[in-house]
Amino acid sequence: ANITQGFPDDFLWGSAISANQTEGAWQVDDKGLSTADIMRRITDRQNKALAPITKADFDQAYRSKDVEQYPKRRGIDFYHTYPEDIALLAEMGIKVLRFSIAWTRIFPTGLEEEPNLAGLAYYDRIFAELAKYDIEPLVTISHFEMPAMLCIKYQGWASREVITAFTKFTAVLFKRYPQVKYWLTFNEINTSLWGFHETGVLDAEKTSQEQLQLRYQAVHYQFVASALVIQQLKQINPQAQVGAMLARMQTYAATAKPDDVLAAQETDRQNLFFLDVQARGEYPSYMNRYFKEQALDLDITLADQAIIAQYPVDFISFSYYMTTIVDEESRHQQAAGNMVVGKANPYLKASAWGWQIDPIGLRITLNTLWDRYQKPLFIVENGLGALDQVTNDEQIHDDYRISYYQQHLQQLKLSLEDGIPILGYTSWSPIDCISFSTSEMSKRYGFIYVDLDDDGNGTGQRLKKDSFYWYKKVIANNGADL
Ligand code: BG6
Repeated sequence: ANITQGFPDDFLWGSAISANQTEGAWQVDDKGLSTADIMRRITDRQNKALAPITKADFDQAYRSKDVEQYPKRRGIDFYHTYPEDIALLAEMGIKVLRFSIAWTRIFPTGLEEEPNLAGLAYYDRIFAELAKYDIEPLVTISHFEMPAMLCIKYQGWASREVITAFTKFTAVLFKRYPQVKYWLTFNEINTSLWGFHETGVLDAEKTSQEQLQLRYQAVHYQFVASALVIQQLKQINPQAQVGAMLARMQTYAATAKPDDVLAAQETDRQNLFFLDVQARGEYPSYMNRYFKEQALDLDITLADQAIIAQYPVDFISFSYYMTTIVDEESRHQQAAGNMVVGKANPYLKASAWGWQIDPIGLRITLNTLWDRYQKPLFIVENGLGALDQVTNDEQIHDDYRISYYQQHLQQLKLSLEDGIPILGYTSWSPIDCISFSTSEMSKRYGFIYVDLDDDGNGTGQRLKKDSFYWYKKVIANNGADL
């Protein structure tokens, strides 16, 4: 067979954002309150776990009209600035934009029978704007948000009722937006084990065993919802494809000691488990053993298993930011909520937020996923959160970001040459936005700078960073100069 040289002509170069980190306009056009609107800002840069939200925190946020403490309520005002912002993305030459649709714009509480037309009209405008520049939409249906009302009424995804609320939402989207070829159901589905922020499960007051029970139950109902959504989409628009989306964290063994290697393999399987279910259509036996050992009693019916088996995902997408290392000892110290697991890798440098940077790990990841699933892959997030400085003449010399991307894209290119089918690459993110984990504005990922600080002060003006011109050139050359 021919060995591929570099990037295929139809490679989908792009970038990714989410609704809750960019749109703002939290109460405009009848949008309902979402779980993202309840997340407070955090100032601890090295925070390893998202602190669970207590019932009291939730109630307070639910009633509060404050925006400063809850920055996702303001985002970067993309709701109003999207024409200028999309024009800048078009100037950069991106071929695909990954974005998400806020459930609360379409069904403000999740309980309505009919969708909110003003919310749909907004996304109609987004699709029209993208079409104007020939930018392919890649849509995440659920990106870390859901109607807050569903947490109150149902305990979020820990209840089966939420599946129906969700498929009511997706039916509206699939009928209205037949132009979408690529859909993702749940962003970073494995982070559901972190709790409220991803699944709307309010369990801060529970024991860790009860939390585990609720969180794995929430994961299961998402698996079922995802399979039902695939079934629904195949009926409405058989050409369209659905991908799983995993926060992939490859685990390395800290030493060559067999106990450590086994610990690393077992930790890694806790991450791969989500794809095992969504791509292969069944729970792997190692998880059944794990559930038993943890004394979890999950509601998994035969009908659920049948639908999961019948509707696996068409492709696999993942975010890639870091790898982790583990040894026999450190594996037992991990809590379900930890974002950065294990120890520091002595061979790697970390970002200012402690995320270990590992370009070769991307190639290892691509090999692992291709070897295991043989489904097309899509890298839908990769990027560097950094503190950028604006010079007096309004420039941002982010050579560290350029070098981060360059090194990761070189590995991606090698993987293409290895013969792995990779549909595209959407960096996180094209434009600075509110950080998911800390809700800071100063954790910047963009090629485009946004003049806003952590308190929301600033002009909101957009400035092109050096990386903007660099990525533009990479796309224009189809990666030839990497
Ligand atoms: C992923 C999320 O976890 O990483 C994004 O899908 C998020 O929503 C990105 O923004 C970077 O994380 P953070 O916390 O630095 O914004």
